[in-house]
Amino acid sequence: MPADPELVDLLARFGQSHVLRFWDELDAQGRERLTSQLTRLDLGRLAELIDRLVLSRAIETDEHAIDPSRVGPVEVCRLPQTDAERVARRRAADRGEAALASGEVAAVLVAGGQGTRLGFDGPKGTYPIGPVSGASLFQIHAEKLLALSRRHGRAIPLYIMTSPENHEATASFFERHGNFGLEHVRLFVQGQMPAVDSKTGKLLLAGKDRLAMSPDGHGGTIAALASPGEEGKPSCLEEMRERGIRTIYYFQVDNPLAQICDPAYLGLHLIADAEISFKVVEKQRPDEKVGVVVEVDGRARVIEYSDLPAELAERREPDGRLQLWAGSIAIHCFDREFLERLASGGGKLPFHRALKKVPYVGEDGHLVSPSEPNAVKFETFIFDALPLARRWSIVETDRATEFEPLKNATGADSPASVRQRLSDLYGDWLEQAGAKVLRRGDGSVPFGIEISPLLALEAADLKGKIEPGLVVDRPLYLGPTGSS
Ligand code: UD1
Repeated sequence: MPADPELVDLLARFGQSHVLRFWDELDAQGRERLTSQLTRLDLGRLAELIDRLVLSRAIETDEHAIDPSRVGPVEVCRLPQTDAERVARRRAADRGEAALASGEVAAVLVAGGQGTRLGFDGPKGTYPIGPVSGASLFQIHAEKLLALSRRHGRAIPLYIMTSPENHEATASFFERHGNFGLEHVRLFVQGQMPAVDSKTGKLLLAGKDRLAMSPDGHGGTIAALASPGEEGKPSCLEEMRERGIRTIYYFQVDNPLAQICDPAYLGLHLIADAEISFKVVEKQRPDEKVGVVVEVDGRARVIEYSDLPAELAERREPDGRLQLWAGSIAIHCFDREFLERLASGGGKLPFHRALKKVPYVGEDGHLVSPSEPNAVKFETFIFDALPLARRWSIVETDRATEFEPLKNATGADSPASVRQRLSDLYGDWLEQAGAKVLRRGDGSVPFGIEISPLLALEAADLKGKIEPGLVVDRPLYLGPTGSS
């Protein structure tokens, strides 16, 4: 059976006929798979992206290019230094707590990434990161939500974004663990985009009957939240509206220190009547791999680390501090209606290009595993929603207590650095509760310490929960009931 003539024409029009090269060798199932993948593509829009982000050599002149003279620091609600500022944060926390108690907050965890840099075989959220118990990233996040739900007497629904590649494994992990006791967990799958040859812009085949596809970036969260659920279920956004959710708390799977549904941050977002909020930390070095929140022509936006010109990254204030210091840790609050507006066409996130190594089927039908990047992937980034918002708030947080992401197999942002940071943080909490904790000369803790979020979400929660005079000089795990 020949391929559908309309599809053949369409592919010819966009110079992509080669994807049917192996058609005659395919069985009915393979033909069906390829046809269904191809008919779901918007080839017109893809051609425009290929033209702009692959074939056009003048990448520097695209919309992501930055004129340094128009870029300046953004206004940030800094960490409180004075009593008055501390009182204001406390008031904001009261507001956030009220929102949690009235059940108007939902959490969205993005976990659709491929985790290539970590080199772990499985969804990153299943990585055993707990310094003593080996609790997974997913367990740590889920237990924080469970503890908060209990504290405020209202369940906080959790929505988890997966990708087609890790959806099944993520779903079965949560099923195996009984959703870690959470009342409402819903997984939703993000979209995909085809990868194309970086020189020719031609679609790549992952198999004779399959295009090479990859996740469409965390900007895909918006469309995925708005997509109809399975078997006639409402979309996640519709479901949230029905549940009376006003604010969506967004965070990434890789940072076990994330203070999920942090009441003060939620409160600042609500008080500012913001459509989107960002948590930022002071960048440690000009080349630190975090996006920076800046102002361009009076509007806030993020410049991703890979797009930040050295001239801007290194620009300093007279006192020597980095001028563009506000590093995004990718924890956001969204007004639900803002995401609904974007999902229904009220603003589009631009695509970025990522040059990657993508295995493909060559002309002779054999699979080629390239040793150098050969393909362009297209991704949208959630932080590009910032310039589309009418009102926003940018809030500083403390890196030591809130940011140590798991990205790499070794060195910075690796399992070793994350476990060390967790142990140091929990050591601080124990000291604040009256314990004595053995330290190395540099102040770090020489063994693992771990405290379950179900026992304590912050230092103050440990009060009265540890033995008086406790000395911690070996690995310690404090579980939900405090037993070690
Ligand atoms: C990201 C941010 C960066 C920020 C830093 C903080 C981007 C492009 N940059 O960098 O500005 O300072 O985190 O740690 O995100 N994900 C999906 N689907 C996708 C792609 C990613 O769900 O298609 C999820 C991942 O599972 C992960 C998160 O998004 O939870 C971040 O993705 P990653 O590619 O690791 O971003 P970074 O380059 O580390």
